[in-house]
Amino acid sequence: MIDQTLLPNEFKYIYCDDLPSTWEAIKSLRVRGAPAIGIAGALGAVLGIWNSAAKTYEAFAAELKSARPTAVNLFWALDRISRTAEENKVLLAEALEIIAEDKAMCRAIGQHGMALLNENDTILTHCNAGGLATSDYGTALAVMFSAHKAGKQIQVYADETRPLLQGARLTTWELMQAGIDVTLICDNMAAQVMKEGKIQCVIVGADRIAANGDTANKIGTYNVAILAEAHGIPFYVAAPTSTLDFALETGAEIPIEQRAAEEVTKGFGKLTAPEGVKVYSPAFDVTPAALVTAIITEKGIARAPYTENLNALRDS
Ligand code: MRU
Repeated sequence: MIDQTLLPNEFKYIYCDDLPSTWEAIKSLRVRGAPAIGIAGALGAVLGIWNSAAKTYEAFAAELKSARPTAVNLFWALDRISRTAEENKVLLAEALEIIAEDKAMCRAIGQHGMALLNENDTILTHCNAGGLATSDYGTALAVMFSAHKAGKQIQVYADETRPLLQGARLTTWELMQAGIDVTLICDNMAAQVMKEGKIQCVIVGADRIAANGDTANKIGTYNVAILAEAHGIPFYVAAPTSTLDFALETGAEIPIEQRAAEEVTKGFGKLTAPEGVKVYSPAFDVTPAALVTAIITEKGIARAPYTENLNALRDS
């Protein structure tokens, strides 16, 4: 996998050949983004199961699941590997199938989503929901890649995404490589940029979407959704159906990962707050469905009422 913690300074592949190294890669965000975490989890399970001392699959999977609690894709992929084992099928083939499906889903999300964009639109995005966060092509960025490829003139504003700067380090890097016009802003500039009339829509990814459409995504996404509502700007979520969690009625039930204080106070090796200061660092927030204009999936676009329409989409 690409070690995403090193980007954009260094492009380096790391090789995980056992469960501990895969767990560490997920925990420390070397691999990150909901679909990519799911894929790493599935492959980690295949690698780790040979030498596991765990008595049950649940006990074995619990270790991997403990790496990151919010993105449902990790849980979804590990449950899929479990079902594969129960059916006496080849686990590696299933993990590779998850990758192939993810690739197809990303392309389909791009195709559905680009219909929402007009010529000369400027899109604001938060965090990184690009190729790095998936098997390739991304979710929110897939919409931009597809529109660009189809010849639509679009521009993008990327929030830097404190504290780990996925927007600054990864999203701008991906968009620049694709030749898409991207402008980096600090997170706290989004309101001003919207007020200046620069943004026509927001598109973000998701880590887990509850049955009612409440959407967990990178911390700060909720802020952006409120700003979009205040400025009358559509707020779109792009995610594969593997990110939908129908077991949860609302977003209130989504577990929110807490991250280490040092990521805020000493993010990239330089102390930016007094040593020992108290820190609260939730990695995700939940945007209420009422603020979500539409959810773009590989099966099509769902709008409110989400409980009804996401269900219909799942069964389509
Ligand atoms: O902590 P991260 O970097 O894994 O958070 C990632 C996000 O919030 C992404 O927006 C989300 O996983 C969607 S990726 C297609």
